[in-house]
Parts: sequence; C-alpha cells; structure tokens
Amino acid sequence: MDFPVSLTERRILLVIAGGIAAYKSLDLIRRLREKGAAVRCVLTRGGAQFVTPLSVAALCEDRVYDDLFSLTDDNGMSHIRLSREADLVVVAPATADLMAKMAVGLADDLASTVLLASDKPILLAPSMNLYMWKHSATQANLATLEARGLLRVGPGAGDLACGEVGDGRMAEVPEIVAAVERFFGASGPLAGRKALVTSGPTHEPIDPVRFIGNRSSGKQGHAIAGALRRLGAEVTLVSGPVALPDPAGVKVIRVETAAEMLQACLCALPVDLAVCAAAVADWRVAAPAAEKHKKVEGAPPPNLVLEANPDILATLAAAGERRPRLVIGFAAETERLIEHARAKLGRKRCDLILANDVSPATGTFGGDANTVHLVAPDQVQSWPPMSKVEVAERLAAFLAERLSAGAE
Ligand code: CTP
Repeated sequence: MDFPVSLTERRILLVIAGGIAAYKSLDLIRRLREKGAAVRCVLTRGGAQFVTPLSVAALCEDRVYDDLFSLTDDNGMSHIRLSREADLVVVAPATADLMAKMAVGLADDLASTVLLASDKPILLAPSMNLYMWKHSATQANLATLEARGLLRVGPGAGDLACGEVGDGRMAEVPEIVAAVERFFGASGPLAGRKALVTSGPTHEPIDPVRFIGNRSSGKQGHAIAGALRRLGAEVTLVSGPVALPDPAGVKVIRVETAAEMLQACLCALPVDLAVCAAAVADWRVAAPAAEKHKKVEGAPPPNLVLEANPDILATLAAAGERRPRLVIGFAAETERLIEHARAKLGRKRCDLILANDVSPATGTFGGDANTVHLVAPDQVQSWPPMSKVEVAERLAAFLAERLSAGAE
C-alpha cells in the first residue's frame, strides 16, 4: 500500500540541548525541512557549546531562540509563542539534565520554560552515557515523562562518544524523522484512516452536585486511541470524565453525559472505524433537579425516575451511509463471556466485540491489565492476559489488517 510521506506545513520546534549528539541535530534540521516541515530551534546554553547558533540559524533559515529574558522577543513572551506556533516539539538531544528538569517542572532557561509552557505533543530523542541512561534517577524521570504521554525515539546501543559502549546513543537522524512522520500519520498502516474512540465513564446528573457514574478509568479506551494514532490514524477520542493525560497527537473531546457522548460521536463521522470502549451509563435521571436536593427532616428521600440512555455503539452501527467500515464494542461480563459477546454482536450489529471478564477478582476495572476474547462473526481469539496498552496495540494491528484486507 502507498502512503504519502510529506511533512508539508508541519511546524516543528526543535530543542537542542547540551550533548555531543547535538551535531546530528544539524542534519535533522535539514532532513525535516527536505520533507517540507518548517523547523524552528531553541538552543540551550549547553547545546551552544556543541553547535553554533549561526549553523543552526543558517540551516533552519530562521533566527535561533536561546534567551529566556530577551528584551526584543514579544516582551519576553517567546516561551509561550514558540510552543503555540508548533505542531510538535522535538527534543534532540534530550540530555539527562533536561529530562530531569522536565520531570520536576523546572523552568530556569528558555528550553525548560518552553517545555513547561507547552500545550503540544513532545518527542524525546534521549542521548547520554550508558550509566547515566541506566541510572534509576533517569529511568524514574523517563517513566514520569512517558506517563504524561511524551513520545520517545531511541536511544540505541553502540559506541558512545565517551568511549564506552552500550545504550545511550541518540537515535539516528532517519529514525527520528521516521518517528516524526509516524506522529503526523505520514506513515504506518492506518495512515489516511480516521478513527473514533469512546472512553471512560459517563456522569448522569441527579442535581447540580450529584451524578450517577461508574468505576471506569478510561485506561483501555485511551490506550486504544494512542495505539491507533501510533499506526498513523487520525483519531478523535470522545472521553467521559477521567483522570488521564490526553494520548499524544489525538483530538480529545471531553463530555459528561451519554447524550453528549453520542452527539460528539455523530459530529466526528464519517470515520473508517469506531471503537466504543466507554462504560456508558445505561440509565439517566429523567428530570435532573435544577437546584440541589436538600435533606428535609422527616421527609422521604427523592424519588429518582430513570430513563434509558441512547446506545452509542448500536447507533453508530446503524448509521446507514455514515456507518464506519468497522464498528467495535466491548462486553464487560462476569460469566459465559463468549456466549454473551456473540449475542451482543448480533444485537448491536457491530463487527467485533472484545469481551472481558470484569469479575472483581480480575481487577480489570481501574487496573492496568486485561484479559480479552476477540469475538467476530467468523472467529473467536482468546488473548493471554496482558497490559491494557498491549491489548490496545494488538487490537490496532488487527484492525489495520482488517481494513487493508477489505480495501483490496
Ligand atoms: N455502549 C454504548 N452506549 C450505551 C451502552 C453501551 O456505546 N448506552 C457500548 C459500550 O461502549 C460497549 C458496549 O456497548 O462497547 C457494552 O454494551 P452493554 O450493552 O452496555 O453491555 P455491558 O455493560 O457490557 O453488559 P450488559 O449487556 O449486561 O448491560
């Protein structure tokens, strides 16, 4: 299959920190620009020990940003503007020092302040000595940054500038370019495809301060949105209230109720595939109170009249001409998983159900692991227990294959 590989009109902010691999960043500027990207550079004081501001400026055909307290830049507001005017921030080389600053939120120079003030996805290309890389402090910082949704390419293993051999070499320039292309969906088996994912619980109001909800964490749905994105899809994630970072590169629409979730999903159509992972409340209060219910001494508790919520999965599967090519649902079951999943597949007219055992003993709800069975009209696959991220990746790969098989 042929995928467009162009970064035309993509704006990349490249942060060059103080490591010997900074010399490769000069080539990175050229290769990204060759692909059509506009590249702007922030150079740290350490970075300027390895490459000169003049070389960087000449290669990106722009000035170099290196001073947090410049009196000539936007009244000192360039740290805000630089991130706002980029689509992706690439940190290459990402040194142990800069990663540590990012992990704790330090902002004592232009680069660290830009990164703290950034509202954009960030791709790290770490580069350092192997013992610095292996150090538990660096690994803890990395885990913190990845949990926040930062992307990473490398490091690789090999000869290091310090004379030692091992992990810590900055990824080679073509690998970094490929990671940037993957981010923008210019490559990957789902490039050019649109995906819709629902995630998290819904909250159905009882009155202005109370709601009916459930224990869904959104971890599985968010992981699926991220995995589809990493394979190149343009992803819209419609999420109920969750305490999770937005997956990198995904358009996130936040909703509270099932009615709002349905509305947001219908607005996201047309898409090639829809994965409904949200734990949508089956019922809502028919007439939520405009004012808070007050306890009145001796009076009976309020009588809540419930009505059914719309079924988002079934609505998408019955959307006629606007029906996504693949509609995928989840079935949370505590017994007779496959049998119930098959029944749900027919009832909701979807193409695939991922059935998972949510008995309290499994710890699936709110936990990081999941055991699922993929149930399609033509097959059942029982996957071994794995993390929700792995389930997401396996599902994304399965869906990519299904779509490309259908396209032939
Ligand atoms: N779903 C939905 N809209 C609803 C209810 C469910 O989109 N109003 C979707 C969920 O996102 C999930 C699947 O439908 O993909 C789950 O179906 P549901 O009928 O709610 O089943 P369970 O809650 O798993 O179980 P039960 O049938 O026992 O209610």
